Amino acid sequence: MRNVLMTAILTGALSGPALAQTNIETLARTCNGCHGLGGVSVGSSMPSIGGLPRAYLARVMKEWKYGQRAAVTMNRIVRGFSDDEIDALATWFAAQPWTPVPQQAPAELLALGKRAVWTTCTDCHGMTGGDPDRDAPPLDGQWSKYMELELEKYRSPDLAMPHRQMGKAVDEVKPEDASAAVHWFGAQKR
Ligand code: HEC
Ligand code: HEC
Repeated sequence: MRNVLMTAILTGALSGPALAQTNIETLARTCNGCHGLGGVSVGSSMPSIGGLPRAYLARVMKEWKYGQRAAVTMNRIVRGFSDDEIDALATWFAAQPWTPVPQQAPAELLALGKRAVWTTCTDCHGMTGGDPDRDAPPLDGQWSKYMELELEKYRSPDLAMPHRQMGKAVDEVKPEDASAAVHWFGAQKR
């Protein structure tokens, strides 16, 4: 990928904004294998990322790059990126539409989840997860399996998850209620 780019630079085929655009589209394509076309993931432990807020995308990628945020995979992926490349990737994915992938769940679980969201999550995520606070990403139709894995990271004392208010929210709710809540979010569509 970088070889193609270097050739283009050396042969003068690209310059200025044209170069930047091609570079980022090439880089963004490397995310498809895990995050899906246009950042719409086919599941279930991989999150959709197309249409997340630009500031959120840039912040979490930088937190991984600088070792401030726990990850299974992403820390290794972003390590080689410049901050400019991260900002450009954030801009690229933020420009895609957010596309919820509603997942089914048993009615009792959804009822429990709805109650848990109402009492503990709605202030910051909205009732459907689709009306988030400034710092929070949309959760409506995000993959519930992925969200459960993230909740485990927040719960684990050994893992760094820097957002204190979200960490506090997880500590204040029973694990089974939080799990039901993310199933509720995962079942939502626009
Ligand atoms: C090999 C699979 C893989 C590839 C390739 C990959 N990711 Fe990820 N991504 C993950 C996993 C797994 C997570 C969950 C965080 C973790 O534990 O690493 C994730 C999480 C994310 C998140 C957080 C989403 C959220 O809702 O908080 C963002 C943003 C992200 N990736 C961006 C990217 C970008 C941009 C690229 C391409 C440059 C990329 N990823 C390539 C596996 C991948
Ligand atoms: C005080 C505000 C607040 C409350 C209350 C709150 N959250 Fe969050 N939540 C956030 C913020 C902000 C983030 C992004 C945090 C970060 O960047 O690490 C987040 C992130 C998440 C994520 C990870 C999303 C992703 O794409 O990686 C999940 C899942 C989640 N919240 C579920 C919940 C659930 C379930 C509840 C209720 C039990 C809840 N939250 C309560 C603010 C809140």
